[in-house]
Amino acid sequence: MGGAEGREAAYDATPFLPDRGGLPAHRKAAAGCWGCPLHRDATGTVFGRGGSGARLMLVGEQPGDQEDREGAPFVGPAGRLLFRALAEAGIDEDDLYVTNAVKHFKFTREETGKRRIHKAPSLRETLACRPWLLAELRLVSPELVVTLGATAGRALLGPSFRVGTDRGVPRPLPGDGNGTRVLATVHPSAVLRSPRREEMYAGLVADLRTAADAL
Ligand code: URA
Ligand code: SF4
Repeated sequence: MGGAEGREAAYDATPFLPDRGGLPAHRKAAAGCWGCPLHRDATGTVFGRGGSGARLMLVGEQPGDQEDREGAPFVGPAGRLLFRALAEAGIDEDDLYVTNAVKHFKFTREETGKRRIHKAPSLRETLACRPWLLAELRLVSPELVVTLGATAGRALLGPSFRVGTDRGVPRPLPGDGNGTRVLATVHPSAVLRSPRREEMYAGLVADLRTAADAL
């Protein structure tokens, strides 16, 4: 069908966004999104979780294997590390909205086994999914957004974003009219993979403390 192909070629979630409603209406609509090809192989859309009154929003990359199966963000190993770091930084879980830049799990399969291996989303997929993230930002209107890793940083701070040079400092969120600020830090999965895990973890906690102080 020409129409459907045309829409897929555009890679854009916009046509799937409801024109009204709050987070529940958006979560429901996102479950039917096929704005890019990632919906095809994943189990389902993983929308954000948390209340619309949250003062702090955390943005990860995309759901992992466990998040894809459970339908909620940061419920796997990266999430456990993240919530430990948040507790150490004195951030209350109840005051959070947690989501991802990309809402479907992208993976490759091991040649022999059945294991699904995480694959980073492309910039094109990240931009396709961005309307959902912008809708969450508008509906939650947090005081501060913390981006975790390169994908979330690029989604909100532009394609030239680099974690190494741009982390740890609160700044105005580009294109936002509500006074929301953004602070970038590393991704908890990068901490888990790092040979210098302790050091990187301490850096994550330090950035989250800066975030807590900025609230
Ligand atoms: N990594 C992410 O970026 N998000 C999740 O929800 C889980 C792992
Ligand atoms: Fe839609 Fe985002 Fe899923 Fe792509 S990744 S199909 S844009 S929800």
